[in-house]
Amino acid sequence: MLRGQKALVTGANSGIGLATAIALGRAGADVVVNYVSDRDAAEDVVRRIEGFGVRALAYEADVSDEAQVTGMFARMLEEFGTIDILVANAGLQRDAPATEMTLAQWQKVIDVNLTGQFLCAREAAKEFLRRGVVPGVSRSAGKIVCMSSVHQVIPWSGHLNYASSKGGVLMLMETLAQELGPSGIRVNAVAPGAIRTPINRAAWETPEAERDLLKLIPYRRVGDPEDIASAVTVLASDLMDYVVGTTLFVDGGMTLFPGFATGG
Ligand code: BGC
Repeated sequence: MLRGQKALVTGANSGIGLATAIALGRAGADVVVNYVSDRDAAEDVVRRIEGFGVRALAYEADVSDEAQVTGMFARMLEEFGTIDILVANAGLQRDAPATEMTLAQWQKVIDVNLTGQFLCAREAAKEFLRRGVVPGVSRSAGKIVCMSSVHQVIPWSGHLNYASSKGGVLMLMETLAQELGPSGIRVNAVAPGAIRTPINRAAWETPEAERDLLKLIPYRRVGDPEDIASAVTVLASDLMDYVVGTTLFVDGGMTLFPGFATGG
């Protein structure tokens, strides 16, 4: 589905990023596996991707650091020649009640989740504009998939920094899609609900926690990283070539106001 395309996935050493990097490799793309910590895990992802007969490269960079991001893109272009798909996935949580949230907690989450997506999207877009459409590779001059969250629309007490960052990702994605669409570049977002990854371990780790969590999910299943990875793969492919500026919610129905199933 993505044969001959070059992809970069940020935060690809664990969770949703890891599953997405592997899914893109399985679909035929060469993949840069970005990570900021745990080199061994990133190298393991590279080996798994190489098992599909495509190329992969692990690259350490903090997406909120401009010089590290430009360095990563320079290396990718040197190594793979170009980029066709950016999955701006790297993200984190630093939870605290609003009145106790430190500026450092606020800033870290905005820096990684929002500024990191801006920096990576800017560098990817420059290369998409330089290269343009390559017939036989993709109908599009380039694809950006922003990893958002159901919390781009669902307010989330105790997670002010995180919800604000994802609300920002929505406008980042839509504004970029509007601005870059005329150049043949597609920008979209995937908004996961509760997915079984390290970021929310406390929410599914015990049977009691999982039971509470399932009340928020009409489909009554906690998502797997592969649920998100397949959505990203299809969205980045030409099967979705006319999809521009859209958020694809992959959340088991979490955004359907499940509290109203009986109330209201
Ligand atoms: C958060 C998770 C949370 C999920 C649903 C995600 O964006 O990172 O911690 O479980 O949203 O609330």
